[in-house]
Amino acid sequence: MPYANLLVDRDGPIAIVTVNRPKALNAMDQATLRELRAAVEGLDADPGVGVVIVTGAGEKAFVAGADISEMADFGPARAEEHARNGQAAVGAFERAKKPVIAAINGYALGGGLELALACDIRLASDNAQMGLPEVSLGVIPGFGGTQRLARIVGEGRAKELVLTGRRVKADEALAMGLVNKVVPQAQLLEAAKEMARAILANGPVAVRLAKQVIHQGLSTSLETGLLLEEKAFGLAFSTHDQKEGMRAFSEKRKPSWKGE
Ligand code: COA
Repeated sequence: MPYANLLVDRDGPIAIVTVNRPKALNAMDQATLRELRAAVEGLDADPGVGVVIVTGAGEKAFVAGADISEMADFGPARAEEHARNGQAAVGAFERAKKPVIAAINGYALGGGLELALACDIRLASDNAQMGLPEVSLGVIPGFGGTQRLARIVGEGRAKELVLTGRRVKADEALAMGLVNKVVPQAQLLEAAKEMARAILANGPVAVRLAKQVIHQGLSTSLETGLLLEEKAFGLAFSTHDQKEGMRAFSEKRKPSWKGE
């Protein structure tokens, strides 16, 4: 499907969604948010896709936030609706059954970082800078940033970054666990694909179950999370892929996955 503000490419089972609004450093207006949600939901439903990568066009920005010029005249009700729509759009990346990798190729600010926070794995180029500068505009993060940042880097670091609005460079982001890996910009997409291929080598049902249990477990008690794990572990044993994976191990060969 053609999008006005996104490019969607395929490399076999890897789908690459590129936010493409160069005039605003890929800042997300409402149309872009709608397109992002539609794109990831469509790719998640596409049986030919195993992993989704999201990145930004150009060498300067992943996504420089929500579109500030669009929000400037919002009243409170409109702003609340905008946050709801933004949360739904970035939430679609988190809700996707398939793994989603953010390839952060430059500025990931405000809504851009919030989009990356909703992805499963974050890789950054060495020139990337990340932050939630909303308080410097007199507002707060509204696309999940106040909640997901603390879950990923801890409450103290999240409060520092949200209250100061300070930007962190790739190396600091790596040190605090905000990103999984930093690579030179020219190698970023290939590094993301390499990570995607490492995931794709595994049983697809198992990968989905693992993603879901980790995610759901983090928003419930340890006891409930462990119960989810137990049930999903049992479910994995109902699949062809479990039999095949274990048989292939004993036969010292690579498994041939069916995804069922
Ligand atoms: N919304 C709308 N437009 C944006 C934008 C955003 N979030 N971020 C950048 N742009 C636009 C700029 O207005 C500028 O447009 P212009 O050329 O028509 O003036 C263009 O993108 C280039 O940005 P510019 O600020 O000139 O680039 P820079 O290299 O000097 O600075 C940033 C880069 C990312 C540091 C700076 O653009 C910035 O701080 N952006 C806003 C980040 C932010 O606060 N995001 C959170 C929003 S809630």
